[in-house]
Amino acid sequence: MVGRGGPADYMRGMSETQTGAPVLPILIHPAPVLRRTARPVTAADAEEIRRLVPAMFATMYKAPGIGLAANQVGSLLRVIVVDVAKDEPAPLALINPEIVARSDETATQEEGCLSLPDQYAEVTRPARVRLRYQDPEGARKEIEAEGLLSACLQHEIDHLNGILFVDHLSALKRNILLRKLAKAQKELKARA
Ligand code: NI
Repeated sequence: MVGRGGPADYMRGMSETQTGAPVLPILIHPAPVLRRTARPVTAADAEEIRRLVPAMFATMYKAPGIGLAANQVGSLLRVIVVDVAKDEPAPLALINPEIVARSDETATQEEGCLSLPDQYAEVTRPARVRLRYQDPEGARKEIEAEGLLSACLQHEIDHLNGILFVDHLSALKRNILLRKLAKAQKELKARA
């Protein structure tokens, strides 16, 4: 996810401070993998997770963004990384994240997505969620989130299910936004 407020200053230097992990290409809509459902991570994926998670952090910070799902870098493992902190890094990697409780109360937040560059819209979601997940070492964890972190986690888990933030908009708004994106991408290609 991308927040309109722009990245926190610390993010610009972060990908260099990661352990030499590669910055991966971010796939742009309508890349088919963005519409696929990612599969659960198992113990057999441990080696891939050790490679993928640092690369996803490096890619997210470089973009810069506040959240990234594995689909966006072409992997169909249930892995997301987020960091919504304003002042200092607070990286969070979630393996097999699952929403186990949602508040009835909703909240509306402006969202953007690294796979739909420069497109923003207000999205309404449950205000608070509780998640179960595993950390990259396989330890079981739970987290309760509200505010920007809640929106970001829901946005990234949507990606693992092939859902984009524009799917939460009316068909009219979605079509306007996707047409704008297609036009911008076409112009970008023409200039390249
Ligand atoms: Ni996104």
